[in-house]
Amino acid sequence: MSNRKPIVVVTRKLPDPIETRMMELFDARLNHDDRPMSRAALIDAVRDADVLVPTVTDRIDAGVLSQAGPSLRLIANFGTGVDHIDLATARARAITVTNTPGVLTEDTADMTMALILAVPRRLIEGERLVRSGNWNGWSPTLMLGHRIWGKRLGIVGMGRIGQAVARRAKAFGMAIHYHNRKRVHPDVEAELEATYWESLDQMLARMDVITIHCPHTPATFHLLSARRLELLPKHAYLVNCARGEIVDENALTRMLMRGDLAGAGLDVFEHEPAVNPKLLALDNVVLLPHLGSATMEGRIDMGETVLINIKTFTDGHPPPDRVLASMF
Ligand code: 8YV
Repeated sequence: MSNRKPIVVVTRKLPDPIETRMMELFDARLNHDDRPMSRAALIDAVRDADVLVPTVTDRIDAGVLSQAGPSLRLIANFGTGVDHIDLATARARAITVTNTPGVLTEDTADMTMALILAVPRRLIEGERLVRSGNWNGWSPTLMLGHRIWGKRLGIVGMGRIGQAVARRAKAFGMAIHYHNRKRVHPDVEAELEATYWESLDQMLARMDVITIHCPHTPATFHLLSARRLELLPKHAYLVNCARGEIVDENALTRMLMRGDLAGAGLDVFEHEPAVNPKLLALDNVVLLPHLGSATMEGRIDMGETVLINIKTFTDGHPPPDRVLASMF
C-alpha cells in the first residue's frame, strides 16, 4: 500500500470512541446517520475502498463482490457471524475476511440466560399485567410459570458462547446436555458436568429447554426443521440468540400456536427485521431485536477488534481474526 491512508468504508454507525480512532488511523468513510446501505451504495463502497467494515445488515454476496475494485483486500466484519458474506467468492478474489470472535461471548451468553429465565417465568407477561393497570393483587395461582432449576438444558453448538451459557445454566441448577459436531475436551465436559449427544434428534426428544449457539452455514440452515421441532417434548422451551435461519420459523410458530411447544425466546429471526406476525400475537414468546451483544462495552470491544484487524493487515501482517486460516 502507498503512503496514503487506507480508505476504510464503515457501513453503519459505530460507538464514538471507535469512529474517532478509525478517523485517526485511516481515511475512514463513516455512516453518520446509520441508515443501512442500499445494494447500490455497497457496490460503490467496494469499488473504492481498501477495507470494508460491514455488519450483519449488509448482504455481501457474489454480485456485490464481483464489483469490487482492485484495492479491496480486506473485509473486517463488525460481528462474529459471517453468514452475510460470500466467503467462497471473497477467497476466490483473494479478499481476506476477519470477524470479532471472543469479545461478545459473555454478553451473548447473558442474554441467552435472560431468555432462558424470562420465558418459563413469564417475565414479560407479568410486566405487561402491571403496566396495564389490571393487576388485582397477589394470588396463589396467578401467572404460574415453570422452574428451570433441575431441568435439562440442551445446547446446540458448544463453542465459546455455548460453553459460556452452560456455565451460567449450571449455576442455576440446570443439567447440561449438548450436541456439537465434535465432542468438547473432556476437562470442559467434566467442569460443566455436560452430557454429549452425538444424535441431535435423540437429544431434542429429551430436553426441557433447547438453546442454539451454532453458526448459520448451509449445513445448519433449518437445522431445527419442522421434523426436528416435532421431536421436542410439548413442555419444552426454545431459545435462539444465534441466527433465525437455523430454525424453521413458520414451523416453530405453528407449533407454538397449537400448544405443541411451551414457549420460545427469540433474539433473531429468519427474515430479520421482519417477524412472523403470528408470533407477535403469542403470549408464550419473548421477542428481542437482535440484542445479544448489545452492550456499550461489547460494541466497543468489537470495534477495537475490527481496528486491530485492519491495522495489522494494512501494516502488512496476517490479521489475528481471519475467518479462514488460509486467508491473507
Ligand atoms: C452482532 C451477531 O450484533 O456477532 C454476531 O454474529 O450476531 C451480533 O452480536 C452483529 O452481527 C453485528 O454485525
